[in-house]
Amino acid sequence: MQEKFYLTTAIDYVNGAPHIGHAYEKILSDVIIRHKRQLIDNAFMLTGTDEHGIKIQKTAQSRGITPKELCDENFSMFENAWKELEISYDKIIRTTDEQHKKVVKQIFKKLLENGDIYKHTYTGLYCSGCESFLNPKDLTEDGLCPDHMKKPEEITEENYFFKLTKYKDKIADYIKTHPDFILPSMRVNELLNQLENIEDISVSRTKESVQWGIGVEGDDTQTIYVWIDALSNYITAIGYDIENPSEQFKKLWPADVHVIGKDIIKFHSIYWIAILMSLGLPLPKTIFAHGWITIDQSKMSKSIGNVIAPKDVIEAFHLEKPDAFRYYMASAAPLGRDGNYSDEDFKEKVNADLANNIGNLLNRTLNMLVKYFDGELKEEFITDKNSKIAIQAENTKNQIIEAFNNYELAEAANILVAFSDSVNKYVTETAPWTLAKEEKMTECGKVLYTVLEAMRHIAIMLYPYCPNISEDILKQLNEKIDFKYENLYWGGLKAGKITDKDKIKPVFLRLDSEFAKDKKKDN
Ligand code: ME8
Ligand code: MG
Repeated sequence: MQEKFYLTTAIDYVNGAPHIGHAYEKILSDVIIRHKRQLIDNAFMLTGTDEHGIKIQKTAQSRGITPKELCDENFSMFENAWKELEISYDKIIRTTDEQHKKVVKQIFKKLLENGDIYKHTYTGLYCSGCESFLNPKDLTEDGLCPDHMKKPEEITEENYFFKLTKYKDKIADYIKTHPDFILPSMRVNELLNQLENIEDISVSRTKESVQWGIGVEGDDTQTIYVWIDALSNYITAIGYDIENPSEQFKKLWPADVHVIGKDIIKFHSIYWIAILMSLGLPLPKTIFAHGWITIDQSKMSKSIGNVIAPKDVIEAFHLEKPDAFRYYMASAAPLGRDGNYSDEDFKEKVNADLANNIGNLLNRTLNMLVKYFDGELKEEFITDKNSKIAIQAENTKNQIIEAFNNYELAEAANILVAFSDSVNKYVTETAPWTLAKEEKMTECGKVLYTVLEAMRHIAIMLYPYCPNISEDILKQLNEKIDFKYENLYWGGLKAGKITDKDKIKPVFLRLDSEFAKDKKKDN
């Protein structure tokens, strides 16, 4: 069977503009999928927008437009943001897509037929922020929703309920016997505790309280409520259909990873799994929960007024390409931990790694190549695959693959930068300028070959984070633009004319802080 990799992101609520927390998740996902595409042909990334629900309905109402108009407007903002950040998804689904709505109705009907959905009159504490009923045990001491710090409303309604309790033990078993199912594993205990107290969940609201949603087939009093609608996107987007699932679905499902934020783990590893069990579908291999992005160490919120959109950063620093921002975000935090954004950190990190470390290494080596050899690598400069740097390159590759397999993206970036560091040290130690002065030209040429061949490796491994910088490096090495990992072998860089004085350009310019700050004040 051909190897495949299917990655999904959470689908964003379109009740506002995308901020850098949304961007964080899409960048992580894009870095993962680009890396997988370097290894296999069939790697597929799905993203999308979550467009139904009471918040959209109310916002649209207050603006005097239809919910669909509001969704279209906000969807464009997400779509544009992802374009600007070069998120290379294969598909973007909207929960207002006709195909999605049709299949969600089928899924609901199937769960009803299976006896897993039943009607029930219920009085509960409803949080409109969570769009779900809360368990009184989970409230703060003051009776507030712990995520939204808002008092939930008491609501009595006749709704459809999903029998989560029926699947409780099976899910617990699954979690315990599949160590890679929930990453990072520090989340597992918390989840098993939640599962312990789980109750059946409401999966519809009355038409009076929520109109903007998918109706229940054969019952025009009820609207399917958010989580069945939203979670199903992972299968409807690739052609799931109860009667006649598409070839694409058969090829891609189950998902290899659902990339989500830590606030929605419960919905994915409990609700979604129960739904899949009821449908008789295979379960996703991994749910990878990333941490939270804070701004200058505090939570982003409209009331504090510290919400940053990805384009604010791009504009403030006059970035022509998103590479630096992508790099910073993807290396912002170890697996699953919260990460913080600050202008200072951003500047420091990308100046250090992309400009001083990687960029400079290429620049000064190419300049030496021009100075000593008129920009040409001679056949006799090609170094052996058992040389120290060649072995390090091979180890770096293997460690990076391993890190990616565990979704340790920050770690993978560190490994790469450490390799670039040791190549820089190698240049200092071998001092090619001294070798040239002593007219040990073959020795000098070998050092330059080694460094440039290491740079070729670095370009390929940096690609998922910084696709444009990587392309630029390969161009300056006069190499074909091909980022597949099969090109990672020592000696791939060919002898011949590589460059001229006027072709050498920095691949990344240091960010100028003062300029960026002034620009920010203007905004
Ligand atoms: O939860 N830092 O949508 P959403 C990091 N529609 N990640 C953040 C973040 C931050 N500051 N703020 C939000 C929803 N996110 C549902 C998902 S999936 C079937 C339905 C993440 O717009 C958040 O954790 O509130 C989630 O993974 C994603 O952005 C969308 O959040
Ligand atoms: Mg949210």
